[in-house]
Amino acid sequence: MILVTGGAGFIGANFVLEWLSQSDEAIVNLDILSYAGNLESLGTLMQDERHVFVQGDICDSALVTRLVGRYQPRAIINFAAESHVDRSIHGPEDFIQTNIVGTFRLLEAARSYWNGLNGRKKQDFRFLHVSTDEVYGSLGKGEPPFDEAHRYEPNSPYSASKASSDHLVRVYHHTYGLPVLTTNCSNNYGPYQFPEKLIPLIIVNALAEKLLPVYGDGQQVRDWLYVEDHCSAIRRVLEAGRPGQIYNIGGWNEKPNLDIVHTICGLLDTLRPRPAGPYGDLIHFVTDRPGHDRRYAIDARKIEQELGWKPAETFETGIRRTVQWYLDNPGWVGNVQSGAYRTWVEKNYSRRA
Ligand code: NAD
Ligand code: DAU
Repeated sequence: MILVTGGAGFIGANFVLEWLSQSDEAIVNLDILSYAGNLESLGTLMQDERHVFVQGDICDSALVTRLVGRYQPRAIINFAAESHVDRSIHGPEDFIQTNIVGTFRLLEAARSYWNGLNGRKKQDFRFLHVSTDEVYGSLGKGEPPFDEAHRYEPNSPYSASKASSDHLVRVYHHTYGLPVLTTNCSNNYGPYQFPEKLIPLIIVNALAEKLLPVYGDGQQVRDWLYVEDHCSAIRRVLEAGRPGQIYNIGGWNEKPNLDIVHTICGLLDTLRPRPAGPYGDLIHFVTDRPGHDRRYAIDARKIEQELGWKPAETFETGIRRTVQWYLDNPGWVGNVQSGAYRTWVEKNYSRRA
């Protein structure tokens, strides 16, 4: 049994689905179902005994303590977070609460649980913290990609909150010996991503004939990784990563935002031609994000060389799959847009605590 937090969000849901397609080891999924949590993404697991869903807050120490006591997980994987940079700029409070206080409370519950274990169970336990490349700040043109020793220089309330959580995780290893692992990954894309993030937003807006907002000059660079590759990397780190270590995860796929938008428009022009003309006509430059980081890029040599991990998708194959997924799942998109995904849960999902 493993305990996953935030397993109804974008990456967490992909992780849960993949895990249970490859293993019979059950998952307890603790998720508060914030606006970003969507149990419809896990609809195929509704009757699956291996998936125990618990709606709750990682800040709730009593709940987390009860869950680890009852289910005795061999690992905790912490995906739960407030994850959107723009939201953090407009309202940082929830980011501080979930990302910092929540991680702290989880670590405390994990420490106390781990202290009570013996022998092999104690030796094998892992706390895996899922973090981001944004903690490293912004790279200049020509600067080498972020490796694990890069200094922390967060620039948004989101990245500062994730940086704080990373430091807490480090402390629990250094001071208390808790067997932690931290992963810092680049930008993910793929199925079930909430359409506030660049790639799903562009796809969904284009299909709805809405403008495609590009911040500033659109020349900011992100390093893109297909979500299933992120999930396979996390599984590999859980299996073979050395406690106390950090692993950067990325696919060597740096692209300027404007190129991403053009690529999506080109795919849609082929897959779902627009009568009014090319989708690129909808591109619209808007005011830049305050404090916008110019470039992220991951040096993934450590995870490649030490753990033998490599991504399966190139950007070209991954983005095609992603665009096709959004075309094939208008119901999921429609329920997110109308807000019906929240009531879908009540109608279709029986909860077990
Ligand atoms: P998401 O916003 O799609 O999902 C977050 C999930 O956490 C949601 O289901 C939400 O309901 C849940 N949650 C929020 N607050 C909670 C709380 N207090 N208690 C329990 N559950 C709570 O995020 P995502 O994009 O899937 O990201 C998952 C993790 O991966 C985050 O920690 C994020 O920092 C990290 N990450 C994301 C990316 C990316 O490109 N999306 C890249 C690198 C790292
Ligand atoms: O690097 C990893 C991080 O990637 C994760 O830790 C975050 O959780 C995740 O949200 C993501 O952060 P970004 O800010 O890079 O992602 P976002 O999709 O919001 O934006 C990607 C780039 O596109 C960024 O440079 C801002 C720009 N952008 C975004 C939106 C939503 C636009 O130009 N227009 C838009 O409408």
